[in-house]
Amino acid sequence: MDLQLDHHTAKALLDWQIEMGATEAIGDAPIDRYELAVAAAKPAPIEAPTDPVPTGDDADPIAEARAAAAKADDLGGLKAAMAAFEHCDLKLGARQLVFSDGHPAARMMIVGEAPGRDEDRVGKPFVGRAGQLLDRMLGAIGLDRASDDPSKAVYITNVLSWRPPQNRDPSPEEIAMLLPFVARHVELVNPDILVLMGNISCQAGLGRRGITRLRGTWTEAYGKPALPMFHPAYLLRQPTAKRAAWADLLSLQARLRG
Ligand code: URA
Repeated sequence: MDLQLDHHTAKALLDWQIEMGATEAIGDAPIDRYELAVAAAKPAPIEAPTDPVPTGDDADPIAEARAAAAKADDLGGLKAAMAAFEHCDLKLGARQLVFSDGHPAARMMIVGEAPGRDEDRVGKPFVGRAGQLLDRMLGAIGLDRASDDPSKAVYITNVLSWRPPQNRDPSPEEIAMLLPFVARHVELVNPDILVLMGNISCQAGLGRRGITRLRGTWTEAYGKPALPMFHPAYLLRQPTAKRAAWADLLSLQARLRG
């Protein structure tokens, strides 16, 4: 099918499809987007080189991420460094970089997992159903990501700044190359305490998973006191786990008061 649509009609059609719940664009013929992403990421071939020419394959994404993150002196600089980072293929399938939300002077910083469909569209972390539950959880202990008062405020980011295709789990390589940015993010915000929200966040911050065992016990991540907690998306699927999440919220509140 080869439809020629003008811009406005195409946009209206797309908006309507999103409104109807479409989350992925699928054509008549299958396209291997991983192949395309790899092809797009590769530099154009150079004909008959006389000297060896460095290619993108020689790059060390983790070293480059570390260098770029270290150069960032403030959050604006870090966001710009991440936007300019070309080694993470997740970026090719995402609409935009999802950097953070909340007040950078907040005492508590949450490190979530990755943007989903709603976050990818809006450009802020935790704005979908899980995010709404997170807001209610924070409200229950007097915190609010929209507050200007640092004692009530919260700062939120994710391990991954781009939405993974079909919300799949990130690979260890993707986590490793984005970790220097997360660590620098924590360093620049310099919160009193951290919340590691879910397994991916524990994998990144602690090097291990197993949220059912990890949750509720204070530990250290990125040089800060950190509490692993069940992810709100998990709580939506397993409401019985809300009891444990409530205990963890009280533990956060006590720590902030103490
Ligand atoms: N889940 C996350 O971990 N982060 C988001 O931003 C949204 C859902």
